Amino acid sequence: MIKGVHEAAYATIEVAAASGGYQVFVGPSLLASVPAVVATYAPARRLAVISDDRVGPIHGETVAEALRDAGHDITFLTFPEGEASKTRKFWSILTDQMLEAGLQRDCAVVAVGGGVTTDLAGFVAATFLRGVPVIQVPTTTLSMVDASVGGKTGVNVRNGKNLVGAFHAPSAVVADTEVLGTLDPRFLAEGLVEAVKHGVILDEEHFLGIANRIQELILADPKESARCVTASVRLKSQVVARDEFERGLRQVLNFGHTVGHALEAATDYRLGHGRAVAFGMIAEARIGERLGLTEPKTSESLTDVLAELVDRTALEVETSTVLGFLSADKKARDGRTRYVLLRRIGQALDQGGWAREVDEDVVRTAVDEVISGW
Ligand SMILES: NC(=O)c1ccc[n+]([C@@H]2O[C@H](COP(=O)([O-])OP(=O)(O)OC[C@H]3O[C@@H](n4cnc5c(N)ncnc54)[C@H](O)[C@@H]3O)[C@@H](O)[C@H]2O)c1
Ligand SMILES: [Zn+2]
Repeated sequence: MIKGVHEAAYATIEVAAASGGYQVFVGPSLLASVPAVVATYAPARRLAVISDDRVGPIHGETVAEALRDAGHDITFLTFPEGEASKTRKFWSILTDQMLEAGLQRDCAVVAVGGGVTTDLAGFVAATFLRGVPVIQVPTTTLSMVDASVGGKTGVNVRNGKNLVGAFHAPSAVVADTEVLGTLDPRFLAEGLVEAVKHGVILDEEHFLGIANRIQELILADPKESARCVTASVRLKSQVVARDEFERGLRQVLNFGHTVGHALEAATDYRLGHGRAVAFGMIAEARIGERLGLTEPKTSESLTDVLAELVDRTALEVETSTVLGFLSADKKARDGRTRYVLLRRIGQALDQGGWAREVDEDVVRTAVDEVISGW
């Protein structure tokens, strides 16, 4: 509950976590409620508000100002926007700045930004003086439906993305869907790809809800966005509650990501994550269809929705390069790459596990097909 805010103005999703669980609040115009959330869920007088230098001036400052008005002592920190900042270098700069500002164990972090900020600031919070609370205030579709739920934090290193990090559940998450209005339409749409993924693996109704409201969602309609984010967060949180540390079920969230990550790597990360995952979902749906495990025409239903969100024209990449990255996938156990497959729209395939090995010929054909456009 957010004290002083009418309950009809937002949705609340409970996320269970080993650390005790937390709540995600979703609705239009919630930025002004951050002080009330901090007061209840991370009651620290001294706060580090962390944003990147694009979100900082437009939304980070708004949150910092509201917190100052509520009597908090604010250390406002920004870093250069973009994935290139999600590194140990900026983790080190931010933690040093917090130490120099005299922040101590009784402080808390408020992260205002996209997934880069929630991951980086989350990792700062996880490690600062061995861990202080973090309130996540995601400002992109991706960070609302994905990055701020589940407690994964971390940075990229030379050997790959997200390879150094920690599980550090937030004390609360505040997703104000009105801030999506200032987001670049490409980022907005790419984030919706993850929401589509939640529907495809777990809930046909959510998938159809997105399909039917796709135009409103692309235009960042705050109410429709809130409905979509709420449904996605609810689905992701149910998965995370049953398998916080990714020992089983949580793997379903990797649908589209085995091929997607390989495509990102093969294009030297020029391909956006959402677009890569869209290509990956089509490829993995087709793999399942070809193996007779996925209901026929599933990939077609997916294609219809995803084509509204990302550019589906051919990628400039070689199939062999993609296959090379696939065999080096970090989720591969015993050196074998595993794929999450679908039973049909709304249901991932569970057959003695949530991810399975697939014959390389089948993978090659599917990759070959999708990279030439769908
Ligand atoms: N922890 C997890 O479980 C998890 C899950 C999925 C993704 N991620 C991570 O999330 C990151 C990608 O997140 P992202 O796509 O949100 O990227 P991002 O944080 O870089 O944001 C994208 C761009 O939009 C700008 N921006 C953000 N919000 C804005 C707003 N409201 N108005 C205007 N501009 C805004 C940012 O400055 C940036 O330039 C990746 O690093 C990925 O690894 C983490
Ligand atoms: Zn993803």
